[in-house]
Amino acid sequence: MRPEESHLLRTIKTALASVVLLIVCLLMLVLILFLPPDLEWTEEEADSEPLKETWKAPDSTSITNTPEGELIRYGKELIIHTAVYLGPGGKVSQNSNGMNCQNCHLNAGRKFWGNNYSAVASTYPKFRARSGSVETVEKRVNDCIERSLNGQPLQEDSREMRALVAYIGWVGSQVPRGEIPDGSGIADLGNLERAADPLKGEAVYISQCLRCHGVDGEGMKAATGQEWLNPPLWGDNSFNTGAGILRISRMAGFVHRNMPNDIEGVAQGLTEEEAWDVAAYVCSKPRPAMDMSADWPDVSLKPVDHPFGPYRDTFSEMQHKYGPFGQMPKAVSK
Ligand code: HEC
Ligand code: HEC
Repeated sequence: MRPEESHLLRTIKTALASVVLLIVCLLMLVLILFLPPDLEWTEEEADSEPLKETWKAPDSTSITNTPEGELIRYGKELIIHTAVYLGPGGKVSQNSNGMNCQNCHLNAGRKFWGNNYSAVASTYPKFRARSGSVETVEKRVNDCIERSLNGQPLQEDSREMRALVAYIGWVGSQVPRGEIPDGSGIADLGNLERAADPLKGEAVYISQCLRCHGVDGEGMKAATGQEWLNPPLWGDNSFNTGAGILRISRMAGFVHRNMPNDIEGVAQGLTEEEAWDVAAYVCSKPRPAMDMSADWPDVSLKPVDHPFGPYRDTFSEMQHKYGPFGQMPKAVSK
């Protein structure tokens, strides 16, 4: 090979190499600039559910200094400190078990998937299959007082009832008629393929719940002695057998999103499986009984996980209580 030739060849090679390098650099630049940013995080997202909170309650500062505003503020106070006004030592009346509405309707009924009131103003009055009738908000509130608070109903024209209804109406006041915002009420989990297992749930309870709710689900009183620091999950002071949260899907969905109460975010809390099992454990425990003979007049509308018969099918009460629900007719109504 002549020296000039090899020189030419080297120049060509160098030029080619530069072009390739330039193309590679340009490609990398394009990738960095135009790749959707979330692609970079796929690995982390795979094991933590995105928590997009699309619904928010109105700002408290929007409550006016009018008689109506006063009523809303009193309603909020009653939701948070129900026991102080209506509990066994209540200063207005003594017609409930000492729990607060907020114990189950977190952040005064404003928490996303925390059993919030976002869809009440927009959907009531509405037909509810449990009573087989069109229910007003007043009737629905009294339902929770009689079942979840194991008490006696409030007079519909009492100041307390009017305040509760005014506050709940204010919480959902920005939701258009007929709409149910995302995050309303309690989340639905995926079905387990097996029956939820109270024994497995006991292990979850001991490691994740006992420190607050007590060895025997009895809860812990706040320093004032009138309210619960951590409310009871079963026993004489807890919700009765007619309460909606005794349905395992409601209990599991509530617990999965919201408990343990001292850990933020779903990813660090329970898996869905643990939530089903611990729900089975809590639901297996004794509590005050309620006469439910008038409930579900049309038995075909009874939710699949209602723990007490009669049913429209031949699956056992046990399977209706703990699952597996996969092969059973789907729940028709809340
Ligand atoms: C032991 C738990 C518990 C307590 C305490 C409780 N509730 Fe409820 N409440 C529930 C459950 C469970 C539901 C049904 C949620 C579902 O099925 O998605 C519900 C539903 C409601 C609804 C209807 C929500 C809707 O979107 O249809 C209203 C209104 C309500 N409760 C008001 C109250 C009031 C007021 C109090 C206090 C006087 C109270 N609740 C106390 C558990 C409770
Ligand atoms: C750090 C304390 C703490 C831990 C741990 C905890 N909870 Fe709770 N739990 C609370 C508090 C406090 C409330 C009431 C919330 C409020 O009033 O704002 C509550 C409410 C509840 C309720 C609704 C009210 C009732 O009494 O029925 C259920 C059901 C519940 N917890 C179940 C569980 C389960 C199951 C676990 C374990 C997986 C658990 N909690 C772990 C503190 C805790």
